[in-house]
Formats: sequence, C-alpha cells, structure tokens
Amino acid sequence: MATGDIDISLYNTVTEGKATILFPKQNEVFYNPVQEFNRDMSIAAIRTWSEIFLQEKRDRIEKKIQKVKDEEERKKMEASLNEHINAKNFTILEALAASGLRSVRYAKEIPNLRQVVTNDIEAEAVESIKRNAKYNGISEDLLLPNRGDAMQVMYSTVGTSKRYDVVDLDPYGSAAPFIDGAVQAVSEGGLLCVTCTDLAILTGSMHPETCFGKYGGMPLKGTFPHEMALRLVLQQLQTSAGRYKRYIVPLVSCSIDFYLRVFVRVFTSASEVKKAASKMAIMYECSGCHAFATQPLGKIAMKENGHERHTPATGPVVNEHCVNCGNTHHIGGPAWGSALHEKSFVAKMLNHVKENEKNYGTHQRMKGMLTVIGEELDAPLYWTMSRLCGTLHCTSIPQVDLFSAILNAGYKVSASHCGPLTIKTDAPSHIVWDILRAWVKKNPVTMANIAQNSPARVILSKEPSIEVDFTRHPEAFPESRSIQLVRYQVNPTPNWGPKARAGTKRKAADK
Ligand SMILES: C[S@@+](CC[C@H](N)C(=O)[O-])C[C@H]1O[C@@H](n2cnc3c(N)ncnc32)[C@H](O)[C@@H]1O
Ligand SMILES: [Zn+2]
Repeated sequence: MATGDIDISLYNTVTEGKATILFPKQNEVFYNPVQEFNRDMSIAAIRTWSEIFLQEKRDRIEKKIQKVKDEEERKKMEASLNEHINAKNFTILEALAASGLRSVRYAKEIPNLRQVVTNDIEAEAVESIKRNAKYNGISEDLLLPNRGDAMQVMYSTVGTSKRYDVVDLDPYGSAAPFIDGAVQAVSEGGLLCVTCTDLAILTGSMHPETCFGKYGGMPLKGTFPHEMALRLVLQQLQTSAGRYKRYIVPLVSCSIDFYLRVFVRVFTSASEVKKAASKMAIMYECSGCHAFATQPLGKIAMKENGHERHTPATGPVVNEHCVNCGNTHHIGGPAWGSALHEKSFVAKMLNHVKENEKNYGTHQRMKGMLTVIGEELDAPLYWTMSRLCGTLHCTSIPQVDLFSAILNAGYKVSASHCGPLTIKTDAPSHIVWDILRAWVKKNPVTMANIAQNSPARVILSKEPSIEVDFTRHPEAFPESRSIQLVRYQVNPTPNWGPKARAGTKRKAADK
C-alpha cells in the first residue's frame, strides 16, 4: 500500500500524541518509547511557557501604545497588536531530532507555533524527518527539516535576529557539548529544554572526575545524587550563559527514570549575571552520617544607597569534622544552589495538564510528578529514610512521624520528586539527628551489633537537644499522598532505559 509516493509497506508505524511516525522495518533511526513522558512534558512546558512569553510580548507592546498621544494612531496600533499577537508567533529548534517524532508532535500539538526547525546530522534521520512530516501532512513552512551539525546550526544564529524562541536538546548521553551554542541560540526570554541521559556520570556512580571534566562540578553519589545531577547541569547552563551576559531562570527541573530534563528561560542582563556567584554553591556531605550543608560562593548585601554589593561569601559552613558524627566531608560542586523550579510556572503547567488530559498519553504520571514538584520545599538536597535509619541501625521511622516531628519543631519539610521516601527540610542536621535519637529511645537498637567506630555510636551517645514531638501534624500528609497519583514510577517497563545509538543492528523489538 502506498500513501502519496511513500510505500508504507516498508515501514512500521508508531502513534504518539497526534503524530504517527513511520519507522523503516530495517530500522536505522532512533526511537525510544519510554521517552513519551519526556515529549509529553516538553509539549506541556512549551505550551505553558508560550502563553507567558506571548503575554509578556503583548504587555510590552501595550505599554508602548499607551504612550502614544494621538488617539487615532493609538487605535490603529491596537488593531495591529491583535493581528500581531494572534499570528503564528514563535520558533523552535529541535537540534538533535532523529526520526522527527518530537517535532511532528510539536508542529501538531503546540498552538501559535510559526516554525520548528528539525535538525539532525545523519542523512537517514533527515530522510525520516522529511518522510514523517509529509506523512503527517505538515508543510515545510511549519516543520523545516535540516541536515547539519547542531553546534553549527546554533552558532549560525549568533549576532542575527534568527535566534530560536525554544531550543530543544535531546542527545544521546550528555548535552554538555551543545550547551555553549544553545545558550546563545535562544531568544530573549526564550526557553531552553535540555535532556541528559548520562546519569551514571552525573550522579557520580562512576568516574566523578569525568563529571567534572564534562560539567565543571563534582558529583556526590551518597544520598541525593539525582538532585545533585540537576544542580550540576543548571550550574553549567548558568556558567555558559554568563559568558554572554545571560542568565537562566529554571522553570521546572525533573529527575526522571534514567535521565534528567530541565526547562529554563534565558535572559540577558549584566547586573543579573552578577548574582550568579550567590546562586552557586559547594555542597558538603558527611562521609559518616550523610548530613549535608551548602556553601554559597557569593554574598549580596544591600548598600545604604539601595545598590547591591557583591562579595565572596564567608565560610566554611561546616567544621573540619561533622558536628554529628565526627567524620570528614565529601565536597561536591560547584553546583546550582538556587531554586530548581519556579512554583508559579509549575502550578500553571499542572493546570494545563489537568485541562488537557486527553492530549497526553502519560498524563497520570505528569500530574503526579508536577504535584510532587509543586509541593517540593525550596531547600537544597535531601535526606532519605533508608540512610537515616540505616546509619543508626534502627527500625524504619514512618514518614508521617518524621515529617510531624520536623514540623512540630518549627521547620518545613517535603518529599523530593527525585525519589520516594526522601526528606527535604530547612531543619539543620543536628535537629534531624535529635529527632532520630528520640525515635531510637522509643524503638531501641541493639548496641552490641554496632561497630565501635560507627557514626551511630557517636550520634546515639548524645541526648536530644530539643523536646521531640511526634504528634501527628496536619501538614505531614501532603495533597499528593492523599489523592491517587502516580507520584513515582514503580514498575519499569521492558523498554525502560536509554536506547543505544541508532544503527542497522537494532531489532524491531526496540520500536
Ligand atoms: C537521542 S536522539 C534524539 C531523539 C529525539 N529528540 C526524540 O525525541 O525522538 C539523538 C540524535 O542526535 C543526532 N546527533 C548526534 N550528534 C549530532 C550533532 N552534532 N548534530 C546534530 N545531530 C546530532 C543523532 O543522529 C540522533 O539522531
Ligand atoms: Zn556526620
């Protein structure tokens, strides 16, 4: 059977969202079905960002119009404003596009899109992009296939008015080689979407020195490797952007299965770039009890004349040996020490998903992750239940008891979307250990089983410095736990994991 001049008997089809993609039976081109969640999240993020972006454009023009004194002239301008704003209005570069599936979905599912440029370096990929655009009835005006090196494509926009409003990087492995081009190729207030699948490197589970080489920061694999990975990538985005007087604003930063995906806006402002040092931090993690602390690199003070004064921060924030257990610290970073998400954006995006569930095959998981992210405390890094109780060799403390005790002590607490049974809190480490000491008083451990030099012995040799109150606190059960939500993926599917590079040896089963 043939459709136009495409002989579809040569292809398998995959439908995702509004796109149906042809994959040669002799599969040459990369497709990873597990990344449907990534593509769904990207569409929701771009749609949410585009509403803000277009509204900002409208506000700017309206402000200009208000200043026009001549009424007739003003009315003329108002009429053309509507024309201008309602027209197809922004552009996307998918720099590493493979089959074109993502771009076809962008073209079909994102309103107000003027054009998506769909680029890949491989000839077969570009053939596939062309075929899929045609099969989906999309013109080259809307989806422009392009064969080129992603860096050259992005660098060619520098100094021109042809920057892209959205730049999407979805590479095999690390996005690091593409970051310098991407932070320059995105327009003012534009959106940069970045995937990294080299989590073994970014989480430090092997070769931390390789992570430093690629990302300019040391990973910490102990307790919070996935948040640390997000912070290392954001650090690299800011450091790269800063060279060009640009700064990033993270909208939503997601740790997902075997990869991470961040959505950041990019703006230009030399004075905002000055704040970057205060947004970067060295992270300390105790090698014994895994207590952590963040050391900002810069400090901002307000001068009497209202101007900011930037100085190196003071520190260190930890002693030579951990105050809780006496061990030394591992040092990670520099990494992004500021907010991972813009909460108002997350709320808007979650609303959008709730109102458009039909459009997203993975909407259950999207709602779950965005709800947990919305509840996430803006405090760097996290503890885990297993580390806390494992360190003391005690029985597991129920999450609700731990959260209640933290809240009753006057501190904030939440889980992290990076994993179940994670604890983000602004309580200092000695308060967290006080709570665990009180828990052990109620649930004693057998000291004979604990090694002489173990952190547990040092921690448990001290009395709690506060009265610990485990009374059930009303905020200890967040909304995400009280409604049925897919908060964390529990059962990986058979296709779970990053895909190998496309090639002739890939089997049809991969599709
Ligand atoms: C992980 S795949 C992209 C998947 C796609 N974004 C999706 O959602 O289905 C990575 C693609 O990047 C392409 N690629 C690798 N290096 C490149 C470069 N320097 N310039 C352009 N494309 C490149 C590869 O040919 C491959 O097709
Ligand atoms: Zn310690």
